[in-house]
Amino acid sequence: MTIEEEFAKVYGLEPITSKTVPGRVNLIGEHTDYNGGLVLPTTVAKSVSVAIGEAMDEQFCFTSAKFPDPVRRDVAAVRNGHWSDYPLAAFAWLKEHGYWRRGAEVYIDSDLPHGSGLSSSAALIVSILKAVVALTGPSLSDVEIARAAQDVENRYLGVPCGIMDQMAVALASSDQALMLDTETLAFELIDLPLDYAFVVAHSGIYRRLDEGRYAIRREECEAAASALDVSLLCHLDTDSAMKRIDTLEEPFCKRARHVWTEHCRVAQAAIALKSGDLNAFGQLMTESHASMRDDFEISLPVIDEMVEAAVQMGAAGSRLTGGGFGGCFVSLVKSGHIDAWQKEMSTAFPEITFV
Ligand code: GLA
Repeated sequence: MTIEEEFAKVYGLEPITSKTVPGRVNLIGEHTDYNGGLVLPTTVAKSVSVAIGEAMDEQFCFTSAKFPDPVRRDVAAVRNGHWSDYPLAAFAWLKEHGYWRRGAEVYIDSDLPHGSGLSSSAALIVSILKAVVALTGPSLSDVEIARAAQDVENRYLGVPCGIMDQMAVALASSDQALMLDTETLAFELIDLPLDYAFVVAHSGIYRRLDEGRYAIRREECEAAASALDVSLLCHLDTDSAMKRIDTLEEPFCKRARHVWTEHCRVAQAAIALKSGDLNAFGQLMTESHASMRDDFEISLPVIDEMVEAAVQMGAAGSRLTGGGFGGCFVSLVKSGHIDAWQKEMSTAFPEITFV
């Protein structure tokens, strides 16, 4: 059934707008986005779809394939810890900015696992913003939609995320990576190789960005930047960055080292991707993982094992992807080798699922 048919089945009439938005996987450039650095995400095949109708009153009603019981919410109280806080917060933004007047009836379907580092929240918020903005003028560009979606998370939901996820799901496509400067939002779309694939696997461990560990890392980065007298860590001067970082105390020194080296790795990875040097790209992914494990300390021993095994079994590179502390890892595998590689990985780690 299409999302419009699902909506009609639940609400008894046609939706007025609908939209499908994919999730994202970050290929390299982790925790650089709130430090003014570079990131290189692409989209995944799994996505979130929404269908929306206007309500007769001021109430918002949300139903989803996963949670079929209708939930009624008032837009004045967005944060109550329920899954529907996310779509409600998107409508709160739309109302505040004059894109939506009354209440709404909303149906959501998604095959993106939540808490997996694949940006299901950004995809849900961006799908609602795009669906509504498409029917009311003046329309917003994809970059403006991404900024709005970040505002929804930061301001309405209190999630201190950067802008990578929103930009990736609003702009990228599955056959290109989005090379993004998160400070200026200047971007370039780079074609992905045909003879290699970025294979995404879920470790079986789930996590949440609002658990507090993400916010702690962000604060540590801000403290490191302030100790180094720059407003953002990626403003450091290339020639002196590492020397200056070494003068910081633990853990600030480690956090800043990860951010700076990761930012530099993204620039190198983009060059490797453009020139078709996938071995170099893979090597950078593996170095990125080591940096997240040792300096940023956002990996888990079981994910370290998975990433190590992925390379031993023939991947050109492998790394944890997303906010950390669980979720997915991404590996660069030669196209002809994917089936055999996945079989070997599943035998070694039965808890893995491929996305
Ligand atoms: C989460 C956040 C992003 C980014 C990544 C880490 O996905 O939403 O803004 O910080 O973590 O790279």
